[in-house]
Amino acid sequence: MRLLSLASLATLLLSPALAQDAQAPAGDIKNGEKHYISDGCYQCHGVGGNGAALTGPRLSRTEFPYEAFINQLRHPGSDMPPYEASIVPDQVVADIYAYVKNLPPSRPAKDIPLLMGMGVK
Ligand code: HEC
Repeated sequence: MRLLSLASLATLLLSPALAQDAQAPAGDIKNGEKHYISDGCYQCHGVGGNGAALTGPRLSRTEFPYEAFINQLRHPGSDMPPYEASIVPDQVVADIYAYVKNLPPSRPAKDIPLLMGMGVK
């Protein structure tokens, strides 16, 4: 009985995170990777999704919930071109979302010899 109520408590505490994940439709990471390149996301957000100051923010391991992610594509804030569903269908957005969400974390600067050679700490 006591165990059961602890389990319910854990479910309650975790439910906001679960609800957020539940909103994202299942995405095909491989197809997302393909479209990230062919639909041009990489041109502004970088091949590894790390972004660049002058072109577009980091998308790698995005903390955007899926709803905000797709909303950004359909109604971008300022400099990003809009992507309508006829160009990038909802399922492809879900695939791209799964791809960027699951990109590996970037390496610390100290593990990148070229940066160390430039005096980056
Ligand atoms: C021409 C450059 C350009 C292209 C191409 C582009 N973006 Fe963007 N993106 C931006 C810029 C600039 C922003 C910053 C906010 C804005 O202008 O709306 C942005 C913001 C975003 C954001 C919000 C992230 C944040 O932290 O603000 C998401 C998500 C996003 N882009 C996804 C994509 C995806 C997915 C694609 C490909 C289908 C794409 N973008 C293609 C320039 C671009």
